[in-house]
Amino acid sequence: MPDILVVDDEPGIQQSLTGILEDEGYGTETVSTGEASLSLLAKRTFDVVLLDVWLPGQDGLETLQRIKALQEAPEVVMISGHGTIETAVRATKLGAFDFLEKPLSLERTLIVVKNAVQARQLRGENRDLKRQMQSRGELVGDSIPVKALRQQIALMAPTNGRVLIFGESGTGKELVARAIHAASLRNDAAFIEVNCAAIPEDLIESELFGHRQGSFPGASSNKEGKFHKADGGTLFLDEVGDMSLKTQSKVLRTLDEQRFAPVGGDEPVTVDVRVIAATNKDLEEEISKGNFREDLFYRLNVIPFYVPPLRERKEDVPLLVRHFLREFSAAYTRRARQITDDALDALMRYSWPGNVRELRNLVERMVIMNPTVATLERKHLPPLVYRDGTRRGAQQEFSTLHQARAAYERDYILRKLDDHHGNVSRAAEALGLERSHLYRKMKALGIAAKE
Ligand SMILES: Nc1ncnc2c1ncn2[C@@H]1O[C@H](COP(=O)(O)OP(=O)(O)OP(=O)(O)O)[C@@H](O)[C@H]1O
Ligand SMILES: [Mg+2]
Repeated sequence: MPDILVVDDEPGIQQSLTGILEDEGYGTETVSTGEASLSLLAKRTFDVVLLDVWLPGQDGLETLQRIKALQEAPEVVMISGHGTIETAVRATKLGAFDFLEKPLSLERTLIVVKNAVQARQLRGENRDLKRQMQSRGELVGDSIPVKALRQQIALMAPTNGRVLIFGESGTGKELVARAIHAASLRNDAAFIEVNCAAIPEDLIESELFGHRQGSFPGASSNKEGKFHKADGGTLFLDEVGDMSLKTQSKVLRTLDEQRFAPVGGDEPVTVDVRVIAATNKDLEEEISKGNFREDLFYRLNVIPFYVPPLRERKEDVPLLVRHFLREFSAAYTRRARQITDDALDALMRYSWPGNVRELRNLVERMVIMNPTVATLERKHLPPLVYRDGTRRGAQQEFSTLHQARAAYERDYILRKLDDHHGNVSRAAEALGLERSHLYRKMKALGIAAKE
């Protein structure tokens, strides 16, 4: 039950207030001065403070001001026997929730306290949600490739350059796209997402460019497309490798002209849109198969970002696990969770074919399935991870030759860089490459150069 602190120097008021509040099930505490209320609030939290305006020593308004300066301050309801308008106005400006006048009405007191408790709870939930949202957008990781990604985001976001993000499923491509938008000069405008794989072929044009009423069966009114909605902001073309050739050519034209015509319309719409695309396909391979337009690839791929799979940056696993433990413990309002080193070890040895998404789902499941466990151990891990971690070790599996090659190259280059203490010129020489060539490769593979 919520806790209420009564601050009043009249014993009669103290008694009648604690009486009616305790009858309603509230916990109560009373003090007679503002100073005493502050020293109590420094030690424990209350949901609502009922505060007399006229107090011996530090008066009610000054006390109010100090209470409101506390972190996660309680709601404060002022009580006054001489309720003048000015005091009420000043108290409200200082953050008081409401005002009660002496003689106190039982009914009104209970209503005001109930409202104040509710407001306090809402404020708390709001704060938690904000905190969660902030931490959800965070790119967690301390590995070299993640640090390089953050560096690359900071560098490239403020330009208007088109970005193509590639990497396996669940590696964090969308998170990177959102981070680029958030760090860009367009962050006040919209971030609009289109999942090209999820929209049926015959609807994607209308989805992207909008349509005019009656332009095809089912077009019962005008519709604004995503390119239009993203005007001034960022359009995220997710799974761009799944777009049909017909749509690709219209997107290409739109990128060239920053202008397009909605389906069934002929007046062109001019827009200012930054396009960020993502794919888990090997687009070069799709080009050679004739499934993806080469010219569109080069238009989109102005700034390439590679998000490496989790198995190539296992040092991020403990950080990610702790991050998701915090997220889900908060979301399911359970206490904070710890995890043993032994369990982390098993998680680090697993190959994570579903990458960070798989890890996130696994942590969520562990939190839900073990509601009373404060420290998660190896035995709480699902058998798949447990077994994989011991049997197959760090063995890697790749779905395409491109991925296997990239992983091998990355590994090899990292080793050579290590051999030469991060000196790129010497590593390039040892690899038989031009220094600039090696730089480009490192950039594409998400390897940061040591300063
Ligand atoms: N570095 C990271 N730090 C924190 N959370 C991450 C990180 N990388 C990925 N995630 C989380 O993992 C989940 C999957 O990430 P995201 O959706 O960005 O992947 P994706 O590469 O777009 O996957 P897909 O190709 O399947 O669409 C999301 O919940 C995302 O917030
Ligand atoms: Mg995605």
